[in-house]
Amino acid sequence: MAPTRNGVDHVSLDALEHLASRIDQAAAAVNKLEGEARDSALELQRAIEAFHKEALTRIVRRLKDDPRGKELLFELVDDPLVYALFVRHEIVRLPTAVRVARVLDAARPYLRSHGGDVELVEVRDNVVYVRLHGSCNGCSLSAVTLRNEIEAALRAAIPEITGVQVVAPEPGPALIMPESIGVRDRSSGWIIGPAVEDVPPGSMHRMETGQADILIINLDGQLSAFRNACAHQGLPLDGGLLDPQSGTITCPWHGFCYDAGSGECLTAPQAQLEPFPLRVEQGRIWVRPTEG
Ligand code: FES
Repeated sequence: MAPTRNGVDHVSLDALEHLASRIDQAAAAVNKLEGEARDSALELQRAIEAFHKEALTRIVRRLKDDPRGKELLFELVDDPLVYALFVRHEIVRLPTAVRVARVLDAARPYLRSHGGDVELVEVRDNVVYVRLHGSCNGCSLSAVTLRNEIEAALRAAIPEITGVQVVAPEPGPALIMPESIGVRDRSSGWIIGPAVEDVPPGSMHRMETGQADILIINLDGQLSAFRNACAHQGLPLDGGLLDPQSGTITCPWHGFCYDAGSGECLTAPQAQLEPFPLRVEQGRIWVRPTEG
């Protein structure tokens, strides 16, 4: 098979897909078990993972100590399979904003069951800024409790997070007077983008502003915005292949494949594109990027 840009061939991507699907099938089988059998299977999984993590950490530490090893390590991380393994064992860390977004996603069903929701505004200096919606909004006791729960979940999952700040609801769109593409409304952080007709279904549009490099994707009429940075090595994704049939975008650099609607990485299950809020007003696309 033809090699991709860094020499990672399609065989290794196929192998990764095959291995990942074996894991998914085994995990689904374990989830069907009950009682002691399930506990034992999960403990076996944890024990094997702990063993692998310890061994991998020693290998990486040893390689980092040697200049030649360091070089080799960088080459190895280019391989999606090795990268996925390192992320899985937290040897390579995802960007903080992506990890924060995941914790908030996990908390969302609980918040929604209480009639509320949370929106990530930005992560700055290890402080997470969020906006609360629905019954979470305001100064009621439940809003305070939910905010504290969000903070506890974030601190438990991401120890470097030092606090959570709730920011005020944004002003309505009528207060924002767009003048040109890329202009940022200072009070709300929304940036005006292209007209919807300039991003037809099955296409993508790159928008670079002073705040962020943004990729807008139109998948069959469904619009999404992401930071234009692959979760693998942060390289731009806009030269990648958008496949409206499968609803995926493939990174042009080493072949990581993403769900073009959600940004979920289908190659390395732990990776994710950083999504930005997007809305359409009077035929124009607006995006609110976080700084990164
Ligand atoms: S797959 Fe390596 S930068 Fe995208």
